[in-house]
Amino acid sequence: MMDKRATSNKLTVKRALTPLDKRNVPQNGSAKKSSLRVIYMDAAVFVTPNQVAYINGEKDGFSSSYTGVLIMKTYDQNDALPSEYRSALIDLLSFQADSEFAGGQRVSENMRFATRPEEAYRLAKKVMEEMGHGWYCWQILEPLGIDVNARVQHLVTHADNPDPKVVRVINGFRKENWSTFFSDWTDVAMFSTVVTPAAVAFLGQYKDSSYLPWRKVSERIWQEEKGHLAFGVWASKRVIEFEGEAGREKLQAALPKFMAMGLGFSGRPSDDSKHFARYFEFGLKLKTSQQLQEEYMEIVSSRLKELGLEIPDNVVPNYDMQFGYSEKKETDLQTATAR
Ligand SMILES: [Fe+2]
Repeated sequence: MMDKRATSNKLTVKRALTPLDKRNVPQNGSAKKSSLRVIYMDAAVFVTPNQVAYINGEKDGFSSSYTGVLIMKTYDQNDALPSEYRSALIDLLSFQADSEFAGGQRVSENMRFATRPEEAYRLAKKVMEEMGHGWYCWQILEPLGIDVNARVQHLVTHADNPDPKVVRVINGFRKENWSTFFSDWTDVAMFSTVVTPAAVAFLGQYKDSSYLPWRKVSERIWQEEKGHLAFGVWASKRVIEFEGEAGREKLQAALPKFMAMGLGFSGRPSDDSKHFARYFEFGLKLKTSQQLQEEYMEIVSSRLKELGLEIPDNVVPNYDMQFGYSEKKETDLQTATAR
């Protein structure tokens, strides 16, 4: 049974243990500093003065078979943030905000492929919502002292080639990369069917963020991303409805390149390094790349089945377009937090 202290002082129960947590659990029951300040068992939870939560397991300490929960500290808009937490939060949020907005700009360029009035209307709705996702994230970045207007103005005046020193846009949403993936409406339909599930999985994790304002906006973003996935499935079905077997073959042919992008979206599982551990400890990252990839495959498999499309073999994840973290970004964070 959980100690009452575990639910007080803004600590919340998060989720079941993952292999990453297990790797960082101190062995032999010692409560010495672990790299992740989260540990549990199916016995009592107690919270130490610095809010490190431990759960007593067997008397020999932490066995390898826990079924516990994760405890983390949360922050609200006007709370004082520890400086390292603040840097990490701004890093992740600005990356999401800028990329969402640039994603909207890219989707709007696909309007030239629209085949029918309803297709055009639904694509326009997606553009509006992607720009909205940028807006929601910027709204919570502004109180943290970020000049969000300058970011929008840079993106709209440098839509084709924004400066990475000014805004943070994922490679996949830069025009020079994005434009190579699209040559007709089939590609537009497949992108939302096969890449959007990666965004659903990746952005869905932020619904449990330790930063409560982000948690709130993520709920809405996640709902709308699921809507974009539904748009993709709808658009793909319409391709089959209007073009028959030839349409299905075109969708199937477009599948591998988008699946490579979807699989690479959350970054390399091997990138779950020290940097990730810090974000995870802060409750700013909630899932490993491995978990997100698995979640992605689960969602995309069911949608492809619904469309009568086959999952291609041997798709190699394209990590160049990722929303996760590259080596370069780790360096960026170290620089940012070293200040
Ligand atoms: Fe979005």
